[in-house]
Amino acid sequence: MPRAPVKIAVLGGGYGAKVPLPVLAGLDEFEPVAVWSRRPERASELAEEHGLELGSADVDELLAHPGLEAVHIATPVATHAQIAVAAARRGLHVLCEKPLATDLAQAREVAAAIEQAGVVCVINYGRRFQETRERLLQRVGEVVGAPRMVCISLVFDDHAEPGSRPFTWVQDAALGGGRLQGYGVHDLDLLIEAFGEVESVAAATEVGVRERRTPDGTPRTVTAEDAYVILVRFSGGGLGQISLTATARHKRGDVVEVYGAEGTVRLDADKRLHWGRAGEELQTEGPLTADSKAAYARVARNLFAAIREGAAPDPGLVEALRVQALLDAVHRADDEQRWVRPESI
Ligand SMILES: NC(=O)c1ccc[n+]([C@@H]2O[C@H](COP(=O)([O-])OP(=O)(O)OC[C@H]3O[C@@H](n4cnc5c(N)ncnc54)[C@H](OP(=O)(O)O)[C@@H]3O)[C@@H](O)[C@H]2O)c1
Repeated sequence: MPRAPVKIAVLGGGYGAKVPLPVLAGLDEFEPVAVWSRRPERASELAEEHGLELGSADVDELLAHPGLEAVHIATPVATHAQIAVAAARRGLHVLCEKPLATDLAQAREVAAAIEQAGVVCVINYGRRFQETRERLLQRVGEVVGAPRMVCISLVFDDHAEPGSRPFTWVQDAALGGGRLQGYGVHDLDLLIEAFGEVESVAAATEVGVRERRTPDGTPRTVTAEDAYVILVRFSGGGLGQISLTATARHKRGDVVEVYGAEGTVRLDADKRLHWGRAGEELQTEGPLTADSKAAYARVARNLFAAIREGAAPDPGLVEALRVQALLDAVHRADDEQRWVRPESI
């Protein structure tokens, strides 16, 4: 028997309008019915564009929409928890952007509300479903063995100039902005997915471009990092390094190198994957794809399977909490300039 599509609302007129709304509209498993933007005119415009029943700037009105079953929360990180808890209390299933909350304590509050309400919660750690990263994870499982050295390096040029990006919540640490929330959490997720427990982390963050203007031209001081380096010591041995700069003058593709006790896997900047066991020549496949809409569709289908078929949410609260614990440790290590052991989940 075909199962009824899930009636879903999207909160957020940025990424929410760019990826989730069009992807959900194209999937048989979902029926987008409502959208929220901070600006009423933008909400109405998006509702009209996508043929939705409601466009609203009022979160409560959106959550109370008749027949609504689920929400995708794509708003500033500091607002995720409050909306997720309110949605769960109304019996709505939650697909939340990463990271789930500002810190582990807040993420635990969301998890408690989700469990109490008996609803499903999926977190959009969708980068792990991009073909590049999914194949990398498969090959790591096949050939690497225990990790000896893992290096993840991301280089972007989109924050290099004061005028290249306006000042929004993304540049405001108090609202959960910064490149760690943008990309770092995906790489922490990848690391844990590949190698499990992390014993301790050290970290340094930096704001390279310190002043930007809001869309109306007001100068503001940037407080959220545009570069970071994280050092990782795995439980049971092995080291890792995760770095990003968003202020380079020449960007390049992501590079991920995994050197293990039994073999090697390397994703190069042209999306080619190289792998081999000890004593073998490295084999190569690719270029692979890193399509974010296709990755999001995988996350959305997992949400449907969890709601309609009782599948385990993937990625769910377990993944959300373990990344959040690691992110808290990274922030503490950076603030206190020392190695920090993440809280166990
Ligand atoms: N998974 C991914 O690949 C991916 C990619 C990008 C972003 N994201 C996530 O998506 C979420 C939103 O990011 P975004 O880039 O879409 O942000 P955004 O475009 O700046 O804003 C998203 C929504 O939040 C509203 N908003 C902005 N500042 C706000 C504030 N101070 N208080 C309350 N609402 C505010 C915006 O209002 P208006 O409608 O009025 O503009 C918009 O509707 C974040 O959690 C981010 O991590 C995920």
